[in-house]
Amino acid sequence: MERLKIAVQISGRGSNLQALIDACAEPRYPAEIALVISNIAGAQGLERATKASIQTRVIEHRDYYSRRAFDSEMTREITAAGAELICLAGFMRMLSDEFVDHWRDRLINIHPSLLPAFKGLDVQAAAIEAGVRFSGCTVHFVRREMDTGPIINQSAVPIHDDDTADTLAARILVQEHRIYPHAVRLIAEGRVTIEGERVMIDGAEAPAEALINPTPV
Ligand code: GRF
Repeated sequence: MERLKIAVQISGRGSNLQALIDACAEPRYPAEIALVISNIAGAQGLERATKASIQTRVIEHRDYYSRRAFDSEMTREITAAGAELICLAGFMRMLSDEFVDHWRDRLINIHPSLLPAFKGLDVQAAAIEAGVRFSGCTVHFVRREMDTGPIINQSAVPIHDDDTADTLAARILVQEHRIYPHAVRLIAEGRVTIEGERVMIDGAEAPAEALINPTPV
């Protein structure tokens, strides 16, 4: 089986990277990680990659005179590694339009809200503050505008009355670790197409049940 080569870009903890590493350890999983790039030298995710014998590269933005120069270096490394899909996994740097356009439809991100609601940072606190009864996470193709782009999959979680940003983030993170490897699998299996700004997934089924919070009694 020919496996899709992916590059993962991180800046920190790397728990989503770990979920991808674990998925790729499965012999029948259709993707493999060719390279992990971090823009932060001490990122915990780098240790996870090294432990799994995955090639890593630290590219620190302050070593480059412009965002474009930094991004070109990443493109050079990713191309050299033979990666065909880039997964952003807690990569905390804005990407240049050139980079996003170059990798159009081959660049995906995971975000801890049900997009298009709650873009940007501190989104768990923002969801609690707004009083929504559900939040969740989204895997999407990346477009120039931050946290926009065709949505591949989402998981919804309930918000509890006593939630803090941390308890909600933890509940969402469990789902992130499920949907990110699944999104990569769908792409690697060649089942994902983009029509307009909508993703179509060959052979995918939507759940039959609605979610209601609080549960009606
Ligand atoms: C996750 O919440 C992800 O959705 C967001 O950044 C966080 C990264 O966490 N983009 P980790 O580094 O994967 O543990």
